[in-house]
Amino acid sequence: MGLVVFVKLRPIPDDAAYVGSDRCSSCHPQAYSAWKDSLHAKMMRAAAGEGVVVADFDSDDAGLGFHRDEAVWAIGSKWEQQFMGQEAGRETLLPGSWWRPTGRWDFTGWDGWQVPVPIKRCHGCHTVGLDVESEEFVEASIGCESCHGPGEWHVTTFGLGRILFQPDAQACGQCHTRGKTPSGEFFFPVGYRPGATLDDYFEFASASPGQNSTTWWGNGRARKRHQEYNAWRGEGHAHSLQSLREGYDGRYGEVEDACLGCHAAEAVLSGSRKPGISEVSEGITCSVCHNVHGDLAELRMGCEACHVEGAFYHTPERNAGHVACPASAGVGCVGCHMPSTVQVAGEFLLHDHAAGVVRPSDTLEWGTPSSCGNGGCHRSVDPELMQRRFDAHYPSGRAP
Ligand code: HEC
Ligand code: HEC
Ligand code: HEC
Ligand code: HEC
Ligand code: HEC
Ligand code: HEC
Ligand code: HEC
Ligand code: HEC
Repeated sequence: MGLVVFVKLRPIPDDAAYVGSDRCSSCHPQAYSAWKDSLHAKMMRAAAGEGVVVADFDSDDAGLGFHRDEAVWAIGSKWEQQFMGQEAGRETLLPGSWWRPTGRWDFTGWDGWQVPVPIKRCHGCHTVGLDVESEEFVEASIGCESCHGPGEWHVTTFGLGRILFQPDAQACGQCHTRGKTPSGEFFFPVGYRPGATLDDYFEFASASPGQNSTTWWGNGRARKRHQEYNAWRGEGHAHSLQSLREGYDGRYGEVEDACLGCHAAEAVLSGSRKPGISEVSEGITCSVCHNVHGDLAELRMGCEACHVEGAFYHTPERNAGHVACPASAGVGCVGCHMPSTVQVAGEFLLHDHAAGVVRPSDTLEWGTPSSCGNGGCHRSVDPELMQRRFDAHYPSGRAP
């Protein structure tokens, strides 16, 4: 037994190889079948596969610059689908993108010189075990080892060799982010393996306050997709464990293990074994809110699980007047605090991950869709008038 413990505590060897998700199925059938149904498993698929292509190659949009037969890989399916062909063994991005919400092809940005090279711009986030030198990968799409780390050692020791049990938020952040390698050559963190420190491998594309960029709004909110990690890590949920450790003056009582049930990921996800304060390292992470194996967008727990009956658990008196809308309007926390500021397929459909309100005045200043207009609620109201109503309800700019 002692030997087993010793073996398990060793870290994954640096040279452990990636083996592919199919090698995990026999011993972990439940996780495997949940993952197989998830969007992660469907990101990059052979275009010839049955039911893979959702784009309409017979649509009468003029200008589609390639034929269906050239498509070797189909990328994505939920909002947008793109295609890759192959030239001399190297993937190429084919010119055109199918937008599901509008049912149209889009060709903006496809004027030739700036068409991205997948090995530099895409593959790192859509494949497992990519080797940028040989340009080969072990598996297409996002597999078990994308999050759990390379599995060779674990598989060859019948499960005794270590593998990451609870991948941290950085493991999600390696793909749910934007930026470049320090050399500027690759748009994904080359060489990063789950468990490592992402900042050592990647320079994040961050917002420049006061200035709209293609990826961020001037108010610091996300404008382009796949930046959930950069948005999340700057705000309260990412720091909910730090709040207990740094500068806390005891106003809500002594810090004890029971606090962790709402403030630390490891405690929320641990089931019956409740870790103590010295055993936890993360705040409210991606996997606290999201399923990690099955329907990813489905929330594992609602906001109420921790924000019990309103926003303010510690100071419940502040809940009075916090929500401006009448209960009959049925506006939830997400509608106001994670508004859809991110455009995909020409529409604002994806949620910002910094949990805070976007004011109508930001719409005037930056064009960011505001929390009040979110989901179409007050979209037709003039933002200036809407901001006056906002100020009347929240005179201090904060919840009461
Ligand atoms: C997107 C990242 C991600 C992918 C892909 C993923 N996992 Fe996980 N997995 C996690 C996280 C995070 C946990 C930690 C516990 C939790 O959040 O449920 C976990 C927990 C587990 C566990 C222990 C708890 C349990 O649910 O049984 C097993 C076993 C596991 N994963 C196996 C797999 C296998 C096998 C695959 C591929 C078929 C896979 N995982 C794919 C992120 C991932
Ligand atoms: C030959 C069977 C076998 C194969 C193949 C296998 N595992 Fe495991 N795995 C196990 C066993 C047994 C355990 C439980 C070990 C323990 O808890 O002592 C385990 C535990 C795990 C855990 C939880 C780790 C922990 O600390 O409890 C994860 C995550 C996991 N496996 C992922 C994977 C992934 C990903 C693959 C494919 C790369 C894989 N496994 C392939 C047998 C296997
Ligand atoms: C190797 C890259 C990679 C990793 C690691 C990764 N993701 Fe993803 N994720 C993607 C890609 C690419 C998509 C888009 C898939 C598609 O549309 O087919 C996606 C989609 C999603 C979605 C959207 C699902 C939907 O229905 O819209 C969620 C939620 C998500 N991931 C959460 C996570 C979480 C949580 C983790 C970490 C536990 C994680 N991802 C790790 C690349 C990754
Ligand atoms: C840094 C990681 C990363 C890189 C690099 C990257 N993607 Fe993605 N991509 C993602 C993630 C994560 C998602 C899904 C999450 C989201 O939409 O916020 C996604 C979503 C997509 C989707 C929409 C999927 C759907 O189901 O609607 C398409 C299409 C896509 N990517 C194509 C590409 C192409 C083409 C490239 C190269 C030019 C590329 N991506 C580069 C991480 C990346
Ligand atoms: C697992 C517990 C948990 C869940 C689930 C949760 N929260 Fe929180 N939330 C917290 C904690 C703890 C804090 C306090 C963070 C801190 O230390 O400042 C917080 C802070 C916040 C804040 C203040 C942010 C800031 O930057 O100061 C907002 C807004 C918020 N949460 C909204 C939400 C929304 C919306 C949801 C659902 C999508 C949600 N929360 C789900 C625990 C949770
Ligand atoms: C406090 C809870 C919470 C946390 C923490 C959280 N998310 Fe989300 N996430 C949500 C909600 C709510 C949605 C919207 C779901 C819906 O469409 O109904 C969402 C949606 C998404 C989507 C789908 C695209 C979109 O924006 O609609 C992706 C991808 C995603 N999250 C990834 C992540 C990643 C990666 C992390 C960690 C860096 C993370 N999330 C952390 C609550 C959370
Ligand atoms: C039931 C869930 C829950 C538990 C248990 C919990 N908290 Fe919190 N905590 C929250 C939420 C939600 C927020 C953010 C909004 C608010 O103030 O309620 C928060 C915010 C905080 C903040 C930062 C914001 C502020 O108002 O200063 C501190 C510090 C804090 N909690 C300390 C603690 C301590 C200490 C304990 C244990 C004695 C604890 N919490 C237990 C849910 C919880
Ligand atoms: C009608 C819109 C609306 C709804 C619905 C709403 N909020 Fe708020 N919330 C606000 C506004 C406006 C503020 C004050 C401005 C700010 O602090 O960003 C606020 C403030 C907060 C704060 C304090 C933030 C801080 O930095 O001190 C937390 C925490 C919070 N809300 C959580 C929640 C949770 C959890 C829910 C769901 C139970 C929710 N809110 C529902 C509009 C809303």
